[in-house]
Amino acid sequence: MEKANLSEGNRRDFLIKLTSVVGGAGVVATCVPFVASMNPSSDVLAKAETEVDLSGITPGTMHTIAWQGKPVFIVQRTPEQIKAAEASNGGIDPEPDSKRVQKPEWLVVVGVCTHMGCVPNKEGPGWVCHCHGSEYDESGRVIRGPAPKNLEVPPYHFVAENKVVIGAT
Ligand code: FES
Repeated sequence: MEKANLSEGNRRDFLIKLTSVVGGAGVVATCVPFVASMNPSSDVLAKAETEVDLSGITPGTMHTIAWQGKPVFIVQRTPEQIKAAEASNGGIDPEPDSKRVQKPEWLVVVGVCTHMGCVPNKEGPGWVCHCHGSEYDESGRVIRGPAPKNLEVPPYHFVAENKVVIGAT
């Protein structure tokens, strides 16, 4: 009688383990495609990095490109703009110009106001955001609020003298 109970107990344990294994495999089989569907598609990944040819940008002019759905301002600065940018640390969010550029003549910043996300206009050596009046200098540093932070510098690196990839370091 006791032997039969042990076998029954073993059978129950076996069935519990088998059910757990099959159930676990089912959960994994269900989750893998679901999680995979959350990965960015190849065209989104392609836009994670944007290569920009700088050869058409002349000193003192700005080129705007789209990167990850945001505008990015690329400015070839004149020697005067570089000198002015290096002469101060900005205002509201102090930061030396040298920490914001890889090459003094090229400024690359995300063109989104750090107050509430409007796109600032290029005016004079810097930018003005007409939504609430914030101003940024020739390094993209905020010099008049209400914006609390400087324009963001995106990750980028030069792949040639006149070519930069935005979105990769
Ligand atoms: S969004 Fe630019 S100042 Fe408010």
